[in-house]
Amino acid sequence: MYHTNSIMYCFIFFAFLAMMRSTHSKTFTVEMPSIDTLEEEAYVCRVIPFSDFERAYIVGLHMDVDRSRVHHLTTSVCEEAISKEEIWGCKITQGSNCIGASAGFGGWDKYTVDKHDFKFPNDLSIEVGSKTRMKNLVLQLHYTTKQTNQTKPAAKVVFELSDYPTRYQFQLYTIGNRGYIPSNTSKGFLTNVACRWELPSVKAYRYRVHTHHIGFHVEAFLIRNGTWILLGSALSQAKTKNWYEVLGGPKRLEHGDILAARCLYINSNAKDIHFGMENDNEMCSFSLELGYRKEDHLHFGKQFYCEAESPSFRFSNFPSLNFF
Ligand SMILES: *[C@@H]1O[C@H](CO)[C@@H](O)[C@H](O)[C@H]1NC(C)=O
Ligand SMILES: *[C@@H]1O[C@H](CO)[C@@H](O)[C@H](O)[C@H]1NC(C)=O
Ligand SMILES: *[C@@H]1O[C@H](CO)[C@@H](O)[C@H](O)[C@H]1NC(C)=O
Repeated sequence: MYHTNSIMYCFIFFAFLAMMRSTHSKTFTVEMPSIDTLEEEAYVCRVIPFSDFERAYIVGLHMDVDRSRVHHLTTSVCEEAISKEEIWGCKITQGSNCIGASAGFGGWDKYTVDKHDFKFPNDLSIEVGSKTRMKNLVLQLHYTTKQTNQTKPAAKVVFELSDYPTRYQFQLYTIGNRGYIPSNTSKGFLTNVACRWELPSVKAYRYRVHTHHIGFHVEAFLIRNGTWILLGSALSQAKTKNWYEVLGGPKRLEHGDILAARCLYINSNAKDIHFGMENDNEMCSFSLELGYRKEDHLHFGKQFYCEAESPSFRFSNFPSLNFF
């Protein structure tokens, strides 16, 4: 009897909680309007201020994208956009369209296979609104084709917002290389990159990897007190932008830990291949989805990178990794 009752109470409690949550959540919908572009492969940005609410928490989003017109879409929140116009061409500034605090998350490209939905883990979100640091939403759209006389928007994004703060706030951290991949490395070449975590401790949830055409594999490690722990690894030829769970579940990064990554390339060309954003450049990136505590917010809210020069940087150059 007691048992049945507690199940009953439990049920009522959760039903109540679910009701509370649903009455305290809302959506925010934005579109990239149908505009004409002057060229193929245009980059167009749009800024939308969060003017109709003071404070809320982005917990997820749904992206509706016209595959035939869009190469990729990125979604970010900013203290201030770099443009005073609502809509502007952003080919040159792609990826850095903000002044002050910013956070990039979500996003869609033609390799996206996860139903165009993005959800943060349960205890993670981004605080946004007119009374917060993140006052604006910025959409960036890379069109595949020249746009003329379109009548439908190329992309529509529905953000899911909650009134409740989560325990952690989202921060993206990207580990990668600059420099180049030497020529004639048909037996394989591994770039190295490592940084010490000097900030307050954070929780690492998921990761994703990215290379271009001659990149094959990306992996990253957490090194604590000389012990290497694999955070994640993935083959990169499929180019999926999916997020994968950090191996063994979320991990804490503590002040003094070292983060290290390496990417595998096969460069059979007789010329070096440089890292960069262009299609004939390469990239090496291992991105971590992190959560920081609200009291540490002054340390976060910017774009964070851990970068090293290839091929000159090796793990053996790095203090306390020099047993390699
Ligand atoms: C776009 O619309 C204008 C005005 O209706 C028309 O003159 C033009 O031919 C159209 N362009 C294309 C590419 O359909
Ligand atoms: C790290 O290594 C030192 C020396 O071996 C040891 O005293 C310390 O307890 C270790 N710390 C952790 C977190 O394992
Ligand atoms: C790479 O290979 C090509 C063709 O075999 C050769 O001409 C070139 O000198 C090589 N480059 C280096 C840096 O070894």
